[in-house]
Amino acid sequence: MTKNFYITTPIYYPSAKPHMGHAYTSIIADFFARFKKIQGSNVFFLTGTDEHGLKIQRAAEKKGMNPKDFCDQISKTFKNLSKTLNLSNSDFIRTTEERHSKSVVNLWNILEKKNEIYLSKYSGWYSVSDEAFYSEDEVEDVDGAKKATSSGSIVEWVEEESFFFKLSQWQKPLLKFYEENPTFILPESRKNEVVSFVKSGLKDLSVSRKSFSWGIKVPSNKDHVIYVWLDALTNYLSALNYPDINNKLFKNFWPASLHLIGKDILRFHAVYWPAFLLAAGIPPPKRVYGHGWILSGDEKMSKSKGNILDPIEIIEKYGIDSLRYYLIKEVSFGNDGNISKEKLISCINSDLANNFGNLCQRVIAFNEKNFNLEIPKKINFTDSDLNVLDDFKINYQKLIKYIDDQDINSYINFIIKHLFIANKYFNDEEPWKKKSDILRLNTIIYVALELIRKITIMLYPVIPESSLKVLKIFEIAENEINFESIKNHIFLKKGSKISKINILFKKVDNND
Ligand code: MSP
Repeated sequence: MTKNFYITTPIYYPSAKPHMGHAYTSIIADFFARFKKIQGSNVFFLTGTDEHGLKIQRAAEKKGMNPKDFCDQISKTFKNLSKTLNLSNSDFIRTTEERHSKSVVNLWNILEKKNEIYLSKYSGWYSVSDEAFYSEDEVEDVDGAKKATSSGSIVEWVEEESFFFKLSQWQKPLLKFYEENPTFILPESRKNEVVSFVKSGLKDLSVSRKSFSWGIKVPSNKDHVIYVWLDALTNYLSALNYPDINNKLFKNFWPASLHLIGKDILRFHAVYWPAFLLAAGIPPPKRVYGHGWILSGDEKMSKSKGNILDPIEIIEKYGIDSLRYYLIKEVSFGNDGNISKEKLISCINSDLANNFGNLCQRVIAFNEKNFNLEIPKKINFTDSDLNVLDDFKINYQKLIKYIDDQDINSYINFIIKHLFIANKYFNDEEPWKKKSDILRLNTIIYVALELIRKITIMLYPVIPESSLKVLKIFEIAENEINFESIKNHIFLKKGSKISKINILFKKVDNND
C-alpha cells in the first residue's frame, strides 16, 4: 500500500526578500520530500507565504504601498525562489487567498462554539518582528530599549481589547500528548525545552488584535483581526481544502507527517498549534522538527542584523546543487551551522567535483574507450565485488530509518563513505591492466557502473539536477527512480547502451 507523506515548510513573511535561512528550511524540506517520493510514498509538499499582521502592514507602509500589492510583489519572489531552489513542492499557499481565510474562519468558529475563546483585554509586551506576545519576565532592558530575551527583537507595550484562547486549560492535555507521542517534537533537546515551558504553566493566549486592520476579521466581531499566528498555522490545513474534511487531500494527508521549522518558531508549532487543534477536535501533526540557525559569524542571519548571504547570488555563481549539497552536508542538522564561502568551495571541489564528478567521468570515459558505451554482457562477481555492492543492501533499512528520524548527517556520511569506496575500488582493481582478462574487466566495469547508479540514486534528494544528468546515461527518468533498487546489484541491463556525460561540477578557484 502506498504511504502518504505530508511535509511542510513554515510559510515565509514576505516582509523582505528571501535569504539563506529561508533557503535552508526549504532545501531540507525538499530533500525529505524527494526521498519519500523515490521511496514510493505519495508525497504532498507545501510551502508558501504568511502575509497578514502588523509586521507586513508596517513593511508595506514603509514602501508607501497597500499591503496586498506589497505582498503580491514579494510573494512572487518567494515563489520564484522555490523554482530557483528546484523545490518539488505540490502547492504554494498564500494566506491572502480565499481558500485560506475560509479555513481560518471555520477553525475560529469551531473554537468559539466550543467555548475556547473569550473577550477580554490584553496589556503586555508585543514584538512586531516576532509577531509574539511576551510576558514581563521574557523581556529585558538593553541600552534603554525593551527587548525580548529569546529573540533580541524590540517589544512595544500594547493595551487593547482582545479575544483570548483558553490555552491555560490545555497544559495537562498537551503534556499528556507529548508523553504519548514521544517523537512529536524533535530534536530531543528542543522537546525538553518545550516540555519544561509547558510545565511551568500556560497563560491564556491573546488571539486577536484591534489596533490595525491587515488580517482576517474575527467573524463575530469585525473590529478585530485574528492573531497572525492562528491565521498562519492554519495554512497547513487550508492547503488540504479544510474545512472540507471529506475531500481526498485532507483524508490522505492530515495529520501532517512533518512540519519542518526553525527553532525560533518552535513554541508556536509545538505548543499553540497542537492546543488549537486539540481544542477544535482535529488531530495534531505527527512531528514538528525544529532545526538550528544558519549563522554568519556567530549571529543568526537576519535582515535586521544586516549579515545576509544572498542565496540567489551563490546559486548564480556556483549552481543550485552546490548550495543544496553544501547546506545539507555541512550543517549538522538540528544544530546551528556556520556557513562560509571557503567551506562551500571545499565541498564543491573535494566532494562534488573530485569524488562524485570524477568517478562518473572516469568510469564512463573508460567504458567508452573499451566497451564503446555498452554495459558489459558477461560478468562474474567475486567476493571483493560483492563486498562493495552488498553494503547498500545490508544498510537499506538503516538508511530509511535515518531519514525517518531526520538524521540527515548519517545519510550523507554513508554516501560520502561509499564515494570513497567506489573510487578506491576502481583504483585498486586497475581495470586498465586487466585487458587480457575480459571476464574480470567486464565485471569491474559493471560493478563501477552499478556503484555510480546506487550512489546517484542516494544523491537524488540532495542534488536532483546533477543526479538526473547521471541517471540519464542509464536512461533512468525521474519518475522511474526507485530507492529500493539500490539493493539490486544487477539492475543495469547487460549489453544495453549508455550515453556520454558532460562535466558535472567544475572545480572552483578559492579566489573566485
Ligand atoms: N511566518 C512565520 C512562520 C509561520 S509558519 C505557520 C515566520 N516566517 S520567517 O520568514 O520569519 O521565517 C521562516 C523560517 O525561516 C523559520 O523556520 C525560521 O526559523 C527560518 N529562518 C529564518 N532565518 C534563519 C536563519 N538564519 N537560519 C535558519 N533558519 C532561519 O517565522
